[in-house]
Amino acid sequence: MTNLMDLICNVDQHRSSIVKTFEKPNILYNLFDADDLAWLEDFGRTQTPNSRRNDNGTLFTSGNFRSIINRYRRKLEQVLPGCSDSPDIDGNFFITPHQYGLHNDSIPKNKWHENGAKDGEYHPWRNILIPLWQAPANADSQILFFKQRDVDWAKVYKHKQTEQVATTYPVCRDYAEIDTFYDVKGTRMPWQDKRMEPAEYMLHFDEDIDRFRGLEVEIMFDWKPGMAFAFDSWQLHTTNKGNPAWHQKSGLLLCFFKKLWAT
Ligand SMILES: [Fe+2]
Repeated sequence: MTNLMDLICNVDQHRSSIVKTFEKPNILYNLFDADDLAWLEDFGRTQTPNSRRNDNGTLFTSGNFRSIINRYRRKLEQVLPGCSDSPDIDGNFFITPHQYGLHNDSIPKNKWHENGAKDGEYHPWRNILIPLWQAPANADSQILFFKQRDVDWAKVYKHKQTEQVATTYPVCRDYAEIDTFYDVKGTRMPWQDKRMEPAEYMLHFDEDIDRFRGLEVEIMFDWKPGMAFAFDSWQLHTTNKGNPAWHQKSGLLLCFFKKLWAT
């Protein structure tokens, strides 16, 4: 059995290779039909060996993801060509009553350290997200991706805010400390202390706009059950409450890894 953390490289030493793998999010609507969604929802409840809950009341289950890749290889390869070559698949099914705040989806450094900090041959690459349902079903909500990819260990971003955050990730409270932002072309994006533009993107976000200070929007799109989208693990993203707002939603996140220096 592979231990994922044995595969992961020291991110701090391989940024110049990692930045060459960036792409814009790839979005496919209506990829999964109602039967597929029912199968996936049942799988998330009954076929995953791990489960946990965070302080926000978000439930996570995980494990046994190879079975999902085997069943849906063709569809998943449409969203992310090469995904089935990943040596391991991380991720989770989630059921949440809360917006996900601003974060990236790479690997937490403490988990890699606890495993011995071995410089493996793979790096976090791209993730696929499959929305499963939202309640009420007519909720109209969005996910927003920023141009900034933070080629660094997983973290949550909470600029100049002191409140507690329900997360197992480290929390960055001053973006001026970050010198690892890159755009889709792999060019450095030094952080600039200015208001996020354009501000209209913040409609239906129950958040202080200062949390997004210095960030630039790359794309915002509807979060719809049956769709799937792939995005760089490093790319900063956040979801909104929507209008009509949702009060609970569920999805499947699958995380894929790529060999360093592979083209
Ligand atoms: Fe995420």
